[in-house]
Amino acid sequence: EGLRAIAARRGITYGAAASTRWLGRDPAYDAALAREAAILVPEGEGKWDSLQPRQGQFTLREMEPILAFADRHGQAVRGHTLGWHTAMPRWVWAALDGAPAARAAALLEAHILGVLGMTRGRIRDWDVVNEAIADPDLLPDQDLRDGAWWRAIGPGWIDLAFQTARAADPEARLVINDYGLEADWPRAAEKRARMLRLLRGMRERGVPVQALGIQAHMPLDQPFSPAPFAAFLREVRGMGLEVLLTELDVIEPAGQPLRDADIPARDEAVAARAHAVVSTALAEGCRMVLTWGLADPHSWLNAWAPARRADGAVVRALPLDAQYRRKPFWHALARAFEGR
Ligand code: G3I
Repeated sequence: EGLRAIAARRGITYGAAASTRWLGRDPAYDAALAREAAILVPEGEGKWDSLQPRQGQFTLREMEPILAFADRHGQAVRGHTLGWHTAMPRWVWAALDGAPAARAAALLEAHILGVLGMTRGRIRDWDVVNEAIADPDLLPDQDLRDGAWWRAIGPGWIDLAFQTARAADPEARLVINDYGLEADWPRAAEKRARMLRLLRGMRERGVPVQALGIQAHMPLDQPFSPAPFAAFLREVRGMGLEVLLTELDVIEPAGQPLRDADIPARDEAVAARAHAVVSTALAEGCRMVLTWGLADPHSWLNAWAPARRADGAVVRALPLDAQYRRKPFWHALARAFEGR
């Protein structure tokens, strides 16, 4: 029995990021995704460069295999992501260069309308804006990241994205997604405060944001304190918003490659961290949890690591190992979903 069934019994939706780098190419990967995940999120195939590679040319070519797979296996699909400061093709950067705000706004609107026009009815959950809050240590004096859309349109770019998304698809759940809200990074409290200020303003202005996606890339070398995290989730829920964990994994300390002998202890630490954050979120009413991939060799974190192990993975960041065997992380999720 997979995590999808265990979670579903408690009314919880569990899923994972999927990638066409492996989907349809590795039968064991496909089987694991089908067994474990009730919802898939394309790791890259829902980003601007995949969906509108040339101006005005909207295509689901890269995403379609994931949508078709999900149909065949009774899975939902999340959309990730409409407005972001990266993963955009060169033509967008060229078009934004020196563009007046109105022209930049028209580009963003056209993208959202074009994409949701293709996915309406098939994707019911969208990250409309991703990573819009500035990291306090990098940008002490303003709440919002000084990314491409902020620079071109101004702080109103976020409201515009949500209003456009609502007009384009009246049924999708519209989510704002971000990182750095989960662990006790030195300035996590300030990042949470910034997100709360943004969300409060959006609610006051009647902007149709419905949920906060918490990425939950959990750094193992930073502490995690359930109480402030729970208080933050209560504040968000108190505004009438849902909360979800969208990209859970555990970031291990950088440095030397992990020795085989150290793997059991590492796996226990990773699992304990995952259990702590997931059980805290569930206790605060979170009903959807996605991990950023399912098996270790596919984690984006491998790209950071210095040396590759024989099994193709250097990190122990995800629920399954390179042979798709269940790790302590998997059991930690099962226990959290069962309320243990
Ligand atoms: O598609 C090209 C391929 O043709 C080429 O051979 C290869 C060589 O580098 O690059 C491929 O593109 C890469 C793509 O992943 C697919 O592997 C991009 O360079 C690389 O930038 C891209 O990274 C992704 C990153 O987002 C940027 O889009 C990661 O896989 C993905 O895990 C990561 O996911 C993000 C979330 O969207 C937002 N939250 C954080 C999370 C982790 O960084």
